[in-house]
Amino acid sequence: MIGYIHDFRPFLNEIVKLDINFRQSKTTHVNFIRFLKRKISQKHKFNQQFENKKWEGLRDIADLGRYSIIVGLTKYFCSNAHILDLGCGEGILLEKFAVSDYAAYLGIDFSEVAIKNASKLANDKARFTTGDLNKLEVADQYDVIIYNESLYYLSNPKVAIKALFKNLAPGGVFIISMVDKHGRERESIWAELDEILALQEKTKVTNQNGDSWTIRSYKMRD
Ligand SMILES: C[S@@+](CC[C@H](N)C(=O)[O-])C[C@H]1O[C@@H](n2cnc3c(N)ncnc32)[C@H](O)[C@@H]1O
Repeated sequence: MIGYIHDFRPFLNEIVKLDINFRQSKTTHVNFIRFLKRKISQKHKFNQQFENKKWEGLRDIADLGRYSIIVGLTKYFCSNAHILDLGCGEGILLEKFAVSDYAAYLGIDFSEVAIKNASKLANDKARFTTGDLNKLEVADQYDVIIYNESLYYLSNPKVAIKALFKNLAPGGVFIISMVDKHGRERESIWAELDEILALQEKTKVTNQNGDSWTIRSYKMRD
């Protein structure tokens, strides 16, 4: 609850300021609505959460299993991969790779705060940039395209994945991790992906708290 209030403190201050303006100008209400829309956007929420270190816990041992599986699958499918990490957050996945594990890595996230933090991990082969996965335009092709706990935030996961078909190198693989919500797999999203892609493997990770993740890898259909 305290974290929640902290997240919204700047937001409330702005509302008070805008309310004063609103009383002084008849046109301000348009800006006020715009401001509200912007502030309650997911991107704003994530920026606030990264600023408040809410996602630091992803570095804990409790989350290590799924990162390790994703690294293992990436190396299994391609020994010197061009990797696209979508919704990369602060780049924790990159930290788990040795530089010699990949040919190139690009991490994309819409949170400027996350990307600023992640950029400290950039090297000659790895870089980070901001971008919205709901309307993503990527130029190159990648051997491994990863959605590590980000796909379920998108407005239409199936459309987002289909738009990336052109960016998957021949023989390339999508690796997708989704936490099981209340212990149950995200069946509707998996079913949509099963319709358009060829499942390669499905791995389950459970930690000692009972949190579980499903990690699936998919290739293009023949
Ligand atoms: C649960 S965090 C996972 C971060 C990272 N993949 C990891 O596991 O360390 C979800 C991430 O998805 C990003 N995200 C959510 N919706 C997004 C969108 N539409 N475009 C880009 N990034 C998005 C968030 O900013 C956040 O960094």
